[in-house]
Amino acid sequence: MTPDEIREKLKEVKYPGFSRDIVSFGIVKEIDVDATRTQVRLAIVTDNRDVALEIVQNVELVLGGVEGLPPLDLVVEKPQAGEQAAAAEKQPERGPKGVPGVARIIAVASGKGGVGKSTVAANLAVALAKAGNRVGLLDADIYGPSVPTMFGLAEDERAGSDEEGRLIPIERHGVRLVSMGMFVSDGAPLIWRGPMLTKALSQFTWDVAWGELDYLLIDLPPGTGDVQMTVTMQIALDGGVIVTTPQDVALADVERGVEMFQRVNAPVLGVVENMSFHVCSGCGREAHIFGDGGGKRMAEKFGLPFLGAIPLLRGIRENSDAGVPTVVSEPDGDAAQAFLSVAERLVLSLPGKEVGHA
Ligand SMILES: Nc1ncnc2c1ncn2[C@@H]1O[C@H](COP(=O)(O)OP(=O)(O)OP(=O)(O)O)[C@@H](O)[C@H]1O
Ligand SMILES: [Mg+2]
Repeated sequence: MTPDEIREKLKEVKYPGFSRDIVSFGIVKEIDVDATRTQVRLAIVTDNRDVALEIVQNVELVLGGVEGLPPLDLVVEKPQAGEQAAAAEKQPERGPKGVPGVARIIAVASGKGGVGKSTVAANLAVALAKAGNRVGLLDADIYGPSVPTMFGLAEDERAGSDEEGRLIPIERHGVRLVSMGMFVSDGAPLIWRGPMLTKALSQFTWDVAWGELDYLLIDLPPGTGDVQMTVTMQIALDGGVIVTTPQDVALADVERGVEMFQRVNAPVLGVVENMSFHVCSGCGREAHIFGDGGGKRMAEKFGLPFLGAIPLLRGIRENSDAGVPTVVSEPDGDAAQAFLSVAERLVLSLPGKEVGHA
């Protein structure tokens, strides 16, 4: 094995607690192989002994498994105090970060646009709030924000800021809202390029006075491109929800959504099938215009929980357009019940400790 191959192999070792590997963190310095030994120099910039130990053990484990490799000679350098600070400055830990005060962060994604992701995110947020949770909703769709419309914010309603200069979310129906729509007037052209976009997103996430939250839901823009990757890589997500419709095309997109979350090691909490069946407003009969049970089958195929099906109802769109999500405006209707039961299953699907109420 050449030093380059060994370096490649070492990418299997993740920095403890992060989805990124130790090579991309710059921890692997020199690699030197001769007939008698394989020398690997690691520079571990941390005062946390457990982290250092875990890295060393995993390096031994990974290289120990390579057949025919001369015995490992691992040299761990600890950078000098000054050097260490400089290195830390140059290489901030770029793994995902949590949001202080926020217990759970859940991203709502879809492989393609128009499947009702924002509608589902809004109603889930309200459903969780109704159950007594402190909830925030971040509209990360900076090209086509829908939170202002769906929550009936006045056109000139803008987010204020506190004395530390952080944005103060606008609260509606018990949900603390932050959306790009609060910063630009309707119809203003938004042209964002990579770095600006990343900056805007991190401002919307971290420079916000969210307060204490049980849940922060993030309404991602449709698809699995740059913005979605930025969000999923920067923010330590507790999980993702994938919204789909029953058509085959949409189901193929689920796969991409699943892959996106897998790449950043965020668990997929489940699949919601929206516009699942049509309920006739005259006779009340259900019609499965797009086919039946597709979302459920897809969830099963990926071994994911199926969180539920939301009917296709004119009222859902009308309520969204009127700025009062269905869960609030028609709390006893079938649609609201469907959203509430999805919220309940979502909470149950979260790994680990239970924080909120379903
Ligand atoms: N279950 C439903 N029944 C009826 N109309 C719905 C339903 N779900 C969503 N809609 C309507 O479909 C349209 C698209 O929904 P929404 O904006 O939530 O989708 P999206 O996936 O967030 O779209 P985008 O890709 O633009 O972000 C909206 O007009 C919305 O009111
Ligand atoms: Mg949307």
